[in-house]
Amino acid sequence: VSISEDNSRVTASLPTGESVEVLLFGATVLSWKTAKGKENLFVSSKAHLDGSKAVRGGIPLVFPNFGPSSNKATEGLPQHGFARTSKWEYLGKSSSESSTLPNSSGDSSVKLDFGLSNTMLDKIPSEWKDYQFGITYSVTLGRDDLETSLAIRNTGEKDFEFQTLLHSYWAIDNISNVSVSGLEKVSFADKVGGGNKEESGAITVSSEVDRVYHVDPSQEIAIIEKDKPRFEFTRDMLPDVVVWNPWIEKSKTMSDLAPEDAYKRFICVETGSVSWNTLEAGDTWEGGQRIKAL
Ligand code: BG6
Repeated sequence: VSISEDNSRVTASLPTGESVEVLLFGATVLSWKTAKGKENLFVSSKAHLDGSKAVRGGIPLVFPNFGPSSNKATEGLPQHGFARTSKWEYLGKSSSESSTLPNSSGDSSVKLDFGLSNTMLDKIPSEWKDYQFGITYSVTLGRDDLETSLAIRNTGEKDFEFQTLLHSYWAIDNISNVSVSGLEKVSFADKVGGGNKEESGAITVSSEVDRVYHVDPSQEIAIIEKDKPRFEFTRDMLPDVVVWNPWIEKSKTMSDLAPEDAYKRFICVETGSVSWNTLEAGDTWEGGQRIKAL
């Protein structure tokens, strides 16, 4: 396994050629390549990688709130929280044997750990000043899979509430040939049209889509491209799945999304816990996803 790190990013690669690259800003996974160099993550050509803005692409981490803050605990926090715009610390590499997800790829993998605690925040948002936390984010690169998991500890004396989401931008060749399976007949909150709905077949995208599904973690979700599975998701303690694609008009309003047809090149399938979790003082919450690239 080879690892290179500098002040801004950590890159790891396996002897068999697979690699992963993580930007310390946001602990954002920027690149995940499987054998033969195939890139699995989309990053906008106008994404800010200098720490001035959350990265448009890769896997930004949503914590402690999803979307605009919507409850008392997070009132006043920025959209999707502060984890994706904070500089994380690289804690080092370790063995992946501790994986909690079934069928992980064992020895031929490397786990990179990243840490963030309240003492590391540039500016502690006033709404969050009373809380103390420590997060370990582990990114495990396997031969044909990637695991991203979180351990969130409440190190203070006050309980807090949080939401979290692995806001992943999956690289695809063309959105017109893509569908998401595993969400058939599951009710979703429609953030575009409003209300709760469900669909009987696999989800396809031909206009702006922004949906929150609540679906048991045992249900496998897959991104299908040209009738073949391209990404398969296994979830641990993450009961929600957001499906997002801005389509044409919304893309035009996003100054950091490029090229012009970028919306064709990615689909966000974001696993997380969007229902509020209460983390009691002294407790730890753990959850994660494993994605198999095919
Ligand atoms: C998705 C949300 O998770 O993220 C969308 O469901 C949102 O509503 C999208 O537009 C992108 O958010 P941002 O803050 O990265 O532009």
